[in-house]
Amino acid sequence: MGIKIKGTGSYTPEKILTNADLEKMVDTNNEWIVTRTGIEERRIAAPDQASSDLACKASEKALEMAGTTAEELDLIIVATITPDKLFPSTSSILQSKLKAVNAVCFDLQAACSGFLYGLECANALMSSNPKYTKALIVGVEKLSGITDWQDRNTCVLLGDGGGAVVLEKRIDKNDIGGILASKLGSDGNYRDIIQVPAGGSSMPTTHETIDKRLHYMKMEGQEVFKLAVNAMSKACKEVMETAKVKPEDIRWLIPHQANLRIIKAVGSKLGMNEENVFVNLNKYGNTSAASVVIALDEIVRSGKIKRGDYILLTAFGSGLTWGATLLRW
Ligand code: UT7
Repeated sequence: MGIKIKGTGSYTPEKILTNADLEKMVDTNNEWIVTRTGIEERRIAAPDQASSDLACKASEKALEMAGTTAEELDLIIVATITPDKLFPSTSSILQSKLKAVNAVCFDLQAACSGFLYGLECANALMSSNPKYTKALIVGVEKLSGITDWQDRNTCVLLGDGGGAVVLEKRIDKNDIGGILASKLGSDGNYRDIIQVPAGGSSMPTTHETIDKRLHYMKMEGQEVFKLAVNAMSKACKEVMETAKVKPEDIRWLIPHQANLRIIKAVGSKLGMNEENVFVNLNKYGNTSAASVVIALDEIVRSGKIKRGDYILLTAFGSGLTWGATLLRW
């Protein structure tokens, strides 16, 4: 019995931060940001909006599309690197906000690949345990809270937002939709190339760590760039081989929205036409775990997807972590 996406939803905060705004904050310019990354603007959450608030709005939309009530959910997985608090989990906070009283809840941390890791976990749990029939998988980030607004290497790249899907067991025998194949990968040897150094057990927060700005995200951009292109294209090829689907059969490649040059390089390594590669990072920048699921929701709601289409999701991020998931709509 397959597991399929019954509903999608997303939410991005109202406040828009443009490249022109950033020009006033750090030594950067619109031309550099657009040509090096493809990003034109990003959304920034209000000070009183936590990740669970963004997640809640996205989840309500996904539940509505699926025709599912919060009480029917038996599983909630939230993928995030910007939880509301160290604990309890953001999924527990979301459960309470949604009144999803029957759900088992946990958070998952795989940075930008988190949503794909969440799909894999839910698929495995739902396929092997009859207890789990309806699941909510969320990718959400308030990256503005871990962004160093004095560091031009990173602050121009990031944005806030959330996305959610409702997964259900496929009941209709004529339904061809579902998760067809997935491939996840991790390599902890590269753990330092994208990180927030302080605030955890290895370097607890002190006045000194704050003075040194070590509670903000750091990234070795060029190194990440090369690894991202190779890892995502390899994972995509593997899932297509597993499912015996060719690049020309894919209606949409939805890559992690970190850099337009990375997206184009992955598309071209897979031999895909540009019109089948979805891009929305110009509007939102890199929203980490939320990026792929916000893009999926945009495609679904714009009606650019039809029953039977093959959708290939791929992501890459800190850890390192990466993955690809092939869906049939
Ligand atoms: O989501 C997790 C995965 N993350 C990613 O996939 C991100 C991967 N990396 C990237 O997207 C790119 O490496 C960046 C966008 C981060 C950087 O682009 P790049 O083409 O690799 O630039 P670079 O780091 O080699 O920097 C080139 C120049 C440097 O100046 P010099 O040393 O050549 O004089 C930088 O100091 O650009 C300078 N620079 C900037 N200039 C204006 C760096 N940031 C900026 C900026 N505005 N914001």
